[in-house]
Amino acid sequence: MSRTALLKPTLQRLESDFQALSQFVDSSFTGHTRQVLSEPYLASRAWIRQTMIEAGLEVHQDAAGNTIGLLKGSGNGPALATGSHTDTVLSGGRFDGVIGVLGAIELVRTLRESGTVLERDLYVIDFLGEEPNEFGVSCVGSRSLTGAITSEFFDSSNAHGATLGAQLESVGYSPSAMLSNKWPAGSLHAFVELHIEQGPVLERTGTQIGVVTAIAGIERVVATFLGRADHAGTTSMADRRDALAAAAEAILVVEQIGCTGEHSVATVGSIEVEPGAMNVVPSSARMWTEMRSPSAEWLGTARRNVLDQLTELAERRDIGVDLSWLNDQDPVPTATSVQDVIAAASDDLGYSWRAMPSGAGHDAAHMALLAPTGMIFVPSLDGRSHCPEEWTDFEDVGVGVHALAATLLSLDGDRT
Ligand code: GLV
Ligand code: MN
Ligand code: MN
Repeated sequence: MSRTALLKPTLQRLESDFQALSQFVDSSFTGHTRQVLSEPYLASRAWIRQTMIEAGLEVHQDAAGNTIGLLKGSGNGPALATGSHTDTVLSGGRFDGVIGVLGAIELVRTLRESGTVLERDLYVIDFLGEEPNEFGVSCVGSRSLTGAITSEFFDSSNAHGATLGAQLESVGYSPSAMLSNKWPAGSLHAFVELHIEQGPVLERTGTQIGVVTAIAGIERVVATFLGRADHAGTTSMADRRDALAAAAEAILVVEQIGCTGEHSVATVGSIEVEPGAMNVVPSSARMWTEMRSPSAEWLGTARRNVLDQLTELAERRDIGVDLSWLNDQDPVPTATSVQDVIAAASDDLGYSWRAMPSGAGHDAAHMALLAPTGMIFVPSLDGRSHCPEEWTDFEDVGVGVHALAATLLSLDGDRT
């Protein structure tokens, strides 16, 4: 039997790990809610740590709260790394991110059981808080590990005026230590993240593996419209300065902008209205907005269009508008060298594959600053994700873990 054939994961073990992790959720929401820094999230990470230890990893938590398991290699030289995240969006699913962490742990078990010893060290990382949190910051752990976090991130505030820095301190993390948590250049030979596709392409084309070519860039902005609270019965339509009506028009502007480019999208995902009563004209509307594209040029144009068109409509309605741009993320091409290894590993194992961009953001986009980086996608049922219906069949999870194992084995032997 070939070395890679021996690295086939055990599906029952994977399934039971998914089941165990999915118990750590906030049951006051539908679906799977394990938001970063929440109680279920912190409790789940003790379980992840223990599961990593039982799989044979030496585990530590770094200054940014990343849980890092090390499988020592027999030689030296730059290490390999894989992993993803285990936080979820509100009312999300149980595969997003989780497959990249639990899949990597299962891979370590198969390596050890098959007597396969890598020459390079292998790191398995559960990155802290990949999803955008209530402070509007995503990928906290991978940004810290790659030196992309700055003190401004810790000043980001939530709807109640609390800052991310204070929140991190309250659960025992040190923002200042996070600023000097960067791994040295050259410490990694490659990073590979296994993830669900979160879209319909693989399922629709009957393809087993997606070889990710690029990760979309993201521009995020909080647009706050400021009008005037007035009596909703006595203030004529001509006399009102309705912040929510302005935001409603702005939402359609953003939707239109999203319709203008290939693989490009724009969304208003959340809105906060004050004072928030049926019989009061809204005085303010705060609109959480993002635009995504693999094209930096499209993102630049979209940003200017949002600025111009929201300013114009606010002026026309005699409404104030404040645009607060959050941390943006440039589009990131993955390394062609790693894409080639993933494609060759899939061919060797007899798995069908296609090259495709990712519309979702990932820790891999930050790890690409540190090392040649690639991503492996597996199909999502009906293309659904960020919702309770998110699902990937365990046979497909197994295919992804197997392809990841073969990819890492090949990268281990890569001495160029
Ligand atoms: C993360 O899942 C993102 O793409 O927002
Ligand atoms: Mn997600
Ligand atoms: Mn994810």
